[in-house]
Amino acid sequence: ESNKVWQGRLSGGSAKEVDVFNSSISFDYVLFEEDIQGSQAHARMLGKQAIISTEDASLIVEGLESILMDLKTGALLFDPTAEDIHMFVESELTERIGEAGKRLHTGRSRNDQVALDLRLYVKKKITEISQQLLEFEAVLTRKAEQHLYTIMPGYTHMQIAQPVTFAHHLMAYAQMIKRDCKRLEEVVEHTDAMPLGNGALAGTTYPLDRQYVAEQLGFGSVTANSLDGVSDRDFVIDAAYALSMVMMHLSRLSEEVITWCSQEFKFVKLDDAFATGSSIMPQKKNPDVAELVRGKTGRAYGNLQTLLTMMKGIPLAYNKDMQEDKEALFDSISTVKLALSAMIPMIDTMEAQTGRMREAASKGFINATDCADYLTKKGVPFREAYNVIGTLVQTCIETDQTLEEVSLETYQSLHELFEEDIYEAIDLENCVTKRNIEGGPAPEAVKKQIDQLKNSLDLP
Ligand code: ARG
Repeated sequence: ESNKVWQGRLSGGSAKEVDVFNSSISFDYVLFEEDIQGSQAHARMLGKQAIISTEDASLIVEGLESILMDLKTGALLFDPTAEDIHMFVESELTERIGEAGKRLHTGRSRNDQVALDLRLYVKKKITEISQQLLEFEAVLTRKAEQHLYTIMPGYTHMQIAQPVTFAHHLMAYAQMIKRDCKRLEEVVEHTDAMPLGNGALAGTTYPLDRQYVAEQLGFGSVTANSLDGVSDRDFVIDAAYALSMVMMHLSRLSEEVITWCSQEFKFVKLDDAFATGSSIMPQKKNPDVAELVRGKTGRAYGNLQTLLTMMKGIPLAYNKDMQEDKEALFDSISTVKLALSAMIPMIDTMEAQTGRMREAASKGFINATDCADYLTKKGVPFREAYNVIGTLVQTCIETDQTLEEVSLETYQSLHELFEEDIYEAIDLENCVTKRNIEGGPAPEAVKKQIDQLKNSLDLP
């Protein structure tokens, strides 16, 4: 049994099992800074509006500041038996400053308080992740600049398709990350409304200055409807979705890195600092980082599912179910931060095996489309040209030849329009350089892509 601030209504104390089950401090303690900043802004406003005395307001602000300092230095420890971070801070405040501490919660409910804390937290963490993503874009772009001319096979269905460059491939991921940044910006926009003043659900009779609180805390607006304001977790789900998308992109790249590291591909070499060994097989160099990123993607998806499901049956307004929003959100945030912090330097230090890429690109009739295009450009309808080259490839497979190795006589026996310049047309460097369409793999086009991205990022 224990005593709670809300014990007045209930007879006797709550059961120990209920306290344990109900308590959220074991995970919501991470909100302590946001909780204290929010309370300080609220107290200043209560003082300004003469709802409490300015002396009490100052005492509260200073008392909260000392709690913040002590929590940061470790001089004050979180009480694991507290119900949640909000109750913990409030009771610690009252212990430190007495009477005045009991006035902090005037015109406020934990329902609008927790909504505020969570919004502050999401804005801060999502902005931190955006910074990491910008760094990742810079790393991908820098690497791409070094490989404008590094030819590698492009695949569809994991079958060799057409030649591209390593730069083009890396920039594809830079574009994904750029969109991720935009999505995170939008998450911050959706989160940028201040909920204090919503009270428990029906606002309050006190003349609170909501705008003043919003300004102090850096919010662009205040929430428009008190019932919605205390029970809206869309911004949490938006964050979980945007973070899932980040993980999905990181996971795709991880999958490629894992493939590229294999003995069969050998397209890249990981720095030893970003690889691991085996406890039994002495020859192993494993891409654990990439595998873990791929594996942890499941957590992000699971968290999104958790949140959507948790919210779907909740009537207005606050219900305790919503306490379950935190672990899912926190886990998605820490998973993405951790994944990026390992993945960015891994990609940065990864070495392209350009010879191997080029070798792989020369197999699998990667220039067959260009061969067909050669005839088409001489007036042969594409479908007809396609059939001619199809037959040619069939023959090449039987004779174990590449398109470059086929004699001009053979070419001409298939179509009279083939001339000596066919070899130029199917030369891989030419195949890539001539794909100079906007968004294409030609070095010139990729350079433009890189410059545009760098401009949008303000990168040197
Ligand atoms: N720990 C609670 C949560 O995370 C804070 C809000 C509690 N409000 C209430 N009326 N019980 O949702």
